Formats: sequence, structure tokens, C-alpha cells
Amino acid sequence: VYNCKTKMSDIQEKVKELMGYREQARLGGGQKRIDSQHKKGKKTARERIKLLLDEGSFEEFDMFVKHRCNNFGLEEETYFGDGVVTGYGTINGRQVYVFSQDFTVFGGSLSETFAAKICKVMDMAMKNGAPVIGINDSGGARIQEGVNSLSGYTEIFQRNILASGVIPQISAIFGPCAGGAVYSPALTDFILMSKGSSYMFVTGPKVVKTVTGEEVTQEQLGGASIHAAKSGVAHFVSETEEEGIEMLRKLLSFLPSNNMEDAPVAACTDAIDRMEDVLNDIIPDNPNKPYNVLDVIHAVVDGGDFLESQAKFAPNIVTGFARFGGQSVGIIANQPKFLAGVLDINASRKAARFVRFCDAFNIPIVTFVDVPGFLPGTAQEYVGIIIHGAKLLFAYGEATVPKVTVILRKAYGGAYCVMSSKHLRGDINYAWPTAEIAVMGPKGATEVLSSKEIAAIEDEQKKAEFIAQKEEEYRDKFANPYVAARFGYIDDIIEPRNTRFRIARALQSLANKRLANPPKKHSNIPL
Ligand code: HXC
Repeated sequence: VYNCKTKMSDIQEKVKELMGYREQARLGGGQKRIDSQHKKGKKTARERIKLLLDEGSFEEFDMFVKHRCNNFGLEEETYFGDGVVTGYGTINGRQVYVFSQDFTVFGGSLSETFAAKICKVMDMAMKNGAPVIGINDSGGARIQEGVNSLSGYTEIFQRNILASGVIPQISAIFGPCAGGAVYSPALTDFILMSKGSSYMFVTGPKVVKTVTGEEVTQEQLGGASIHAAKSGVAHFVSETEEEGIEMLRKLLSFLPSNNMEDAPVAACTDAIDRMEDVLNDIIPDNPNKPYNVLDVIHAVVDGGDFLESQAKFAPNIVTGFARFGGQSVGIIANQPKFLAGVLDINASRKAARFVRFCDAFNIPIVTFVDVPGFLPGTAQEYVGIIIHGAKLLFAYGEATVPKVTVILRKAYGGAYCVMSSKHLRGDINYAWPTAEIAVMGPKGATEVLSSKEIAAIEDEQKKAEFIAQKEEEYRDKFANPYVAARFGYIDDIIEPRNTRFRIARALQSLANKRLANPPKKHSNIPL
């Protein structure tokens, strides 16, 4: 006879047991270690997920996974979840997959099963076309697991590589990330680091001292500020974890969920035909005087809202996301405020990767040009400006997304060609009346074209007058947008205050753009 009462109490017992296990799993490595994590000013893996995802949206996988290692007495020490919390949820209603390393369990170190959990969410993300966000806080390979940990890392790397260009992959570093562990974030699209509590390096200070004799702290070697400004490894830096998580949510709002989709269109209350009179006066009379291109960007994008990527690295070029009429765009702009906006190795690398990200994920590219050329000198030549500069050229030329370009002032030499010119399949290329499009600046041109005449003049005053006159002649003839416009290399010369409207309309007109590159296995970008 079916005994309903007994059955019920059985189930209740089992549910109670399940709840107990869940409670245990949620404690990770235990309350003491959670307290220690908090004392360091860090949040736990679960607290981070809770902040990141929409409330109540988290569905966890593999809460009951435990490691399978029998070395060094590890069989006696197991924890539910094995040091990483994984699953899916939503951010502003859109599905994402997450993993969050739990420092309270073996210092968040990566075991075979830990890696398998990450691989599972990555595979799910690929199948379902949703971004993956990884939160890193780990002592690296779980030492007791030996090669099984290394194989685990490599399985993750392989998935990072195959997912590249298919789904957005974003890494947050909220603690240690050292050794080979750095290469998973490095393979992802964006890295965010929190100040003070995160660091990334291939080898730590102790090994550095042994190998090179150099004495350096963790912060000096791989802290957030170093990677933001010097190495360019970090795209975003936050003061706190909360701020970092907010930045991740914002970043995602600009991105499509996968390469088959367009980015979501945000509600736009900012009139697309808004005039910005200040832009008519922003270019200084003296062509060698700088201005801040961020002022131009803020003036023209929806609500002045611009999420800058790699703001402190190679500040002579600006990259980031904004919207026109609610539509996401990637913005690249030379920044005259730093090194006169020159293209050097770092600027070329930074912008090239950004262009390629936008192209992979169907995000139109808007380029603002004010560039005096590539940076000359041995310091750049010896480190390969030729190859690195070619990266940006390649990236723009390969990109098939809508490309709208506005030349604000200088567009000289090779840098003119590179910066989304008509000849690299720029779709709509505008120039302000202040544009100077030429092979080089008037000073350089005069030196080359009139060097013999200049040398023949002995009187210094007369020499200076002659040079000034030649420069003026050159400027009148070439340093304007009309020559380029006459050839159709510029589609129109626009009034600066109208820039927002003209870009927005250009983007609208390109909404159904179809352009494909020739079929091939893959291109061979100069790496
Ligand atoms: C196993 C580890 C561990 C690891 C830390 N723990 N790292 N267990 N494998 N890699 C454990 C500690 O034993 C400790 O356990 C707990 O995690 C917290 O660690 P602490 O040292 O007490 O914390 P803290 O003082 O904050 O220092 C954190 C740390 C340090 C700087 C990360 O733990 C450290 O240096 N760990 C080793 C880092 C490392 O060399 N990893 C290997 C890199 S090579 P208890 O029980 O006390 O809580 C690598 C290769 C990958 O990763 C290659 C991929 C291709």
C-alpha cells in the first residue's frame, strides 16, 4: 500500500539534507576564510555574482562538484563546488554565463574539476550565444594536482580561443591572477581590474628577484595602475569591486550577445539633430595647439555618455563605446592633447584590437581624425612601428561594419590612409572645414621641398620669412579639405556643430550595409 505520509516525511528529510548541503556549499572554504576575505576588503565569489546579475536571476551549476585529488592528503579536504561558482543569469534582462573563483577554497586555485566547471559554462555560452564573464581571484594552478591543473587551464584557453569573435568574453580581476593563469583573461576581449586588491603577472616578485635580481612589489609588477597605464593589459580599472561590477554591466549594455546579433538599441531621448555650437570654435587658430578630442566625443554622442576603454594607455588615441540614436558604436579618435595625437606602436595596437572587436561583433565604427602622422625615430623603428602600425591599417581595411569618419583637423601621410580613409572602404567620410589633408605638415613639406633655397639664404630674418611664406603657400594649397573633396575622397565638408546629426544620419543610412571579405581560412594580420 502506498504510504503517503511516510513518503512525504522522506522527501522532507531529503529536502532538508539538500538544504544543508547547499548551505555548506555557500560557505565555500568556511566562515573563517570568508571573514579573512572581507578583512582584505574583498567580496566573496558569491557576493560578486549577486552584485553582477539581476536580482534572483542566478542559476547555479555544479554546486556539488568536489575535486578528485589524492595527493598530499587532499583527499581529506574537500569542499562543495571546489573553489569556483558557475552558472548563468541575466544582466538587464539579457542572458550571460558566469564563473567566479572562490579564494576561500584552496586560495581559488584551479583543479581539474574546477576547470571542468568553467569549461561547462563556456560550452553552454557558446551553444546559446551568450557572453561569458569570468571573475578571477586565484592562487593559480592547484599545486597538489600537478599536470591535471595545467591540462585544466589549457582546456579553458582552447575554449577562449574558439569563443573569440563568437561571444563577448569579459574578465574581471579582483584578486591574484598569476602565472599561466593570466593567459585566460589575456585571451578574452576585455579585462577589468580593481585597484589595490588585484594583480596580474606571469611570474611573481620572488621569481623575478631570483631570475633578474630586480626587486619589485606585487603592485609595481602587476597592479591595476600598471596594467592600465604601462602595459595596456587592463581595459578598465575600478576603485572598488562594486564600481567594477557596475562597469561590467555597463560595458555589456553596448554589446550584442553574440556575433550573429546586433547590439541592443537603447531608448534615446537625445535629439539626433541636436546642434553643438561649441564645436564650431573648438579647433584652435594655431594648428599646433591642442584641444581635447573627448570634448568633441561627449558633445556628439547620445547624452554625452562615453565608456572609454584603455583610457590611460596610449592616451594619444581614444577608444570606447557610445551611442547615436540609441545604436551602439565603437569610437576611435586621435587625441591631440597627448603627443599631438601621433600614431605610435601602443596607439596602433590599442586601436587595432578595438577595431577588430567592433568588427567581430557588428558594432559600427566612428572615427575622429586629427593625426600628424606616425611617430618617427629609432625608439619606434627598433621596436617595429612598421609591423605594429600595419595592425591598425589591417584592422580598418579588413573591417566590414559600417565605418563613418570625420576628419577634424590634421590627416597627414600614412596616418591619413590608416584612419578609416575612403580607400580602406570607409563608408561615409566627412571633414570639418578645418581639416588639413596632405602628405605631411607644412613645416616638414617646406623643409623637404625648399631645402636648397632655404640653405642659400644667409640672413636669418629673411630665412624665417621665406620659410613662413612657403609654409603658408603649402597650407593654402594642400592643408585644407577641398582637394580631397574634389576627388570624392571626402563625401562632404560639414559644419562642426552639425556633426552629431550628420553621423547619426550616416549610421542610419548604413544600417543594412552588406559587405563581405573574400572567403579564406583566416587572414594573416601582422602580429
Ligand atoms: C593550492 C593554494 C594555492 C595553490 C594558495 N593556496 N595558492 N593551494 N595551490 N596554487 C592556498 C593556501 O595554501 C592557503 O590555504 C589558501 O590558499 C590561501 O593562501 P594564502 O597564501 O594564505 O593567502 P595570501 O597570503 O593571500 O596569498 C595569496 C597568494 C599565495 C599570493 C596567491 O597563496 C601564493 O603565492 N600562492 C601560490 C601562487 C603560485 O605560485 N601559484 C602557482 C603559479 S604557476 P589555507 O588552507 O591556509 O587556507 C601557475 C601555472 C599555471 O599557476 C599554468 C597554466 C598554463
